[in-house]
Amino acid sequence: MIVVSHRGPERFEATTSGGFTRHRGAGGVISALRPLLAGADAKWVAAAISTDDRAAVAAGAATSEDFDLHLLALDEDDHRLHYDVVSNAVLWFLHHGLFELPRRPAFDRHFAEAWDAYGRVNEAFAAEIAANAAEGETVLVQDYHLALVPAALAQRRPDLQVAFFQHTPHCGPNSIGVLPDRVATDLLASMARCAAGFHSPRWARAFEVCHEMVLGSAPAGGTFATPLGIDPDALTANADGAEVAAEAKNLDEAIGDRKAIVRVDRIEPSKNIVRGFRAYDLMLEEHPEWRERVVFVALVYPSREGLAEYLAYRQEVEQAAQRVNDRWATGDWQPVILDAHDTYPRSLAGLRRYDVLLVNPIRDGLNLVAKEGAFLNRHDGIVALSREAGAFDELGDAAVPVHPYDLTQTAEALHQSLAMEPAERHARATRLQELAAVHTSRDWLDDLVRRAEGVSAA
Ligand code: G6P
Repeated sequence: MIVVSHRGPERFEATTSGGFTRHRGAGGVISALRPLLAGADAKWVAAAISTDDRAAVAAGAATSEDFDLHLLALDEDDHRLHYDVVSNAVLWFLHHGLFELPRRPAFDRHFAEAWDAYGRVNEAFAAEIAANAAEGETVLVQDYHLALVPAALAQRRPDLQVAFFQHTPHCGPNSIGVLPDRVATDLLASMARCAAGFHSPRWARAFEVCHEMVLGSAPAGGTFATPLGIDPDALTANADGAEVAAEAKNLDEAIGDRKAIVRVDRIEPSKNIVRGFRAYDLMLEEHPEWRERVVFVALVYPSREGLAEYLAYRQEVEQAAQRVNDRWATGDWQPVILDAHDTYPRSLAGLRRYDVLLVNPIRDGLNLVAKEGAFLNRHDGIVALSREAGAFDELGDAAVPVHPYDLTQTAEALHQSLAMEPAERHARATRLQELAAVHTSRDWLDDLVRRAEGVSAA
């Protein structure tokens, strides 16, 4: 089997002695897929992301103990245009509904060049796959960075069994028309060259409707919805580790005997972090009984800082947290603890500890954190969950729904979650934990392979 993703399972760091150390690749897709495929004799094709990755490729050191790793040292300009401009500033914004349409996007000659670069990067991936795939091999292409790979493979290697899985939502028919015509046509046509998968039937349906509208037919490769799940054993083993215990102790000291609202997110506009703080502020205003009795622990970490929007958003997040603290803090109470250098062990400690986990994205393909939290929590914690997250399909019955744009509703959802009687908290938390483990990451991978091979769900 060949797995294909923009970020790879390993990243490399140059050492002062001229060698390289190997580390686990970043990002949710990698943390889910890596343990499943390690040692399974899989080939993995990915991009060299950092300067050190590129140096490791040049030195022949970009290898893995767990995979047959093919790291591509792409043309640097092409790669930047592919990642910053097309993937992140356009496709990510499109599918998450982040465009400010009166101002952006405006597709000019610079974008046309970036789109060509996106095509060349996708071609480079397809060429590497084509050169290394056995006859009829299964190829699992991950995410919006690589949406043109199915079409390129259909040309080069029609014998391969391909599935494409998009981890983001898919935009609807009103939004697809924002893209230049040839961009929309090429993307939709490529994804339809194979089975196209999403975390939620909502996104699969949106893709179908876009395809019908733009290309006048249903996608020939078919669509499927299969949500990524957690790996219960790996997650438990990680959360039981010594580092998490140490972080849990620090967290307990910071929270004291107060209630804890926790969030764990990349600093990312679609995660709606600023409205989360504003809703908390409103709750403190409307429900004075919570003042000094609750702490909002925001465990966040920087992301995509090559884009001005993300740098600006980080400032907005910091300012929004500061405003709440300026308004409400007392001598021995800091209402928001903002940690923008979050680490994985600290996140896991936060997920074990929360009384309320706030997950309020504007739109989210799945949101694995919601499932990880529901599964790991040991505090009869409640998940306050945006209806616009794919994970709402599975957790919605036991979660407290959040309307991501409605601050008043979000404030009430936080209040209701904090104020819930112990018996109801316990019942909901137990149910959340069950629901979070219904679909495991193994189920997801098995389904993806079946779809690539043209078999419907089990
Ligand atoms: C989302 C995407 C992933 C991506 C991750 C981190 O989860 O679906 O494909 O890897 O965000 O984003 P980054 O741009 O840092 O890879």
